Amino acid sequence: MTEANITKETILSGNIPRHIAIIMDGNGRWAKERNMPRTMGHKRGAETLRDIVKSAGSIGVEAVTAYAFSTENWKRPDYEVNFLMNLLDVYLSGELEKLNKHQVKVIFSGELAQLPKTVRARAEKTVVATSANTGLVLNLAVNYGSQAEILRAVKSVASDVADNKLALSDIDETIFEKRLYTKDLPPLDLLIRPGGDLRISNFLLWQLAYAEIWFCQDYWPDITPDHLYRAIYDFQKRERRFGAIVDTKSQANIYE
Ligand code: FPP
Repeated sequence: MTEANITKETILSGNIPRHIAIIMDGNGRWAKERNMPRTMGHKRGAETLRDIVKSAGSIGVEAVTAYAFSTENWKRPDYEVNFLMNLLDVYLSGELEKLNKHQVKVIFSGELAQLPKTVRARAEKTVVATSANTGLVLNLAVNYGSQAEILRAVKSVASDVADNKLALSDIDETIFEKRLYTKDLPPLDLLIRPGGDLRISNFLLWQLAYAEIWFCQDYWPDITPDHLYRAIYDFQKRERRFGAIVDTKSQANIYE
């Protein structure tokens, strides 16, 4: 099977990942290559997100977590931060009708309290307006950092222990996960990172424990549903062992 032959039909007969995360990287470089301001890359990136969410929903993916703005992105020049905040506001208001039409439920991961008031209000309004939708969950990671998310969960657990609501001996993975932003989502199956960089960038460090990772060189604004199908095709070919062994019989033979 060559890359060009992989279509939606190819993957539909296999195991579809329930939850896909995406690092939408390469917007700035995409724009620079076209002598455009970086912000045009983000604008185009928002359109790519719309296409990918639509395709993912149509093949039965239950949740997409997209990294839209990290806790570190505040370090960017003011005009770029302002543009991204405004883009989020415009995107959410402009997409609401389509999101409802396609039954997409929007939730957020991240510290929304630090966002400009109007953007925060728009985010909250979108969550309420899409809360009854029964299709794909679009989890937008905004002002999100995984280390901050983990610390937030640690503080919540510590506070419950201090208040005698929780015993130290009761703390386990399930209790901890219930305090992460992703608590209501299926386990993360696949991370897609376009843009050529081979790193995790403070994204979903806990949730990635047994996820498969798919990198590609193309920049996010150039990503199409075909890239999604390719990533899923690769995912379907991988053997996920979750730390165990699959062929227990042959392993047993070693000791027989
Ligand atoms: C990383 O590319 C991308 C971001 C920091 C922003 C991602 C945001 C969008 C795609 C906007 C769409 C989202 C919504 C919900 C409106 P980069 O700027 O680091 O690119 P570079 O590595 O080429 O510089």
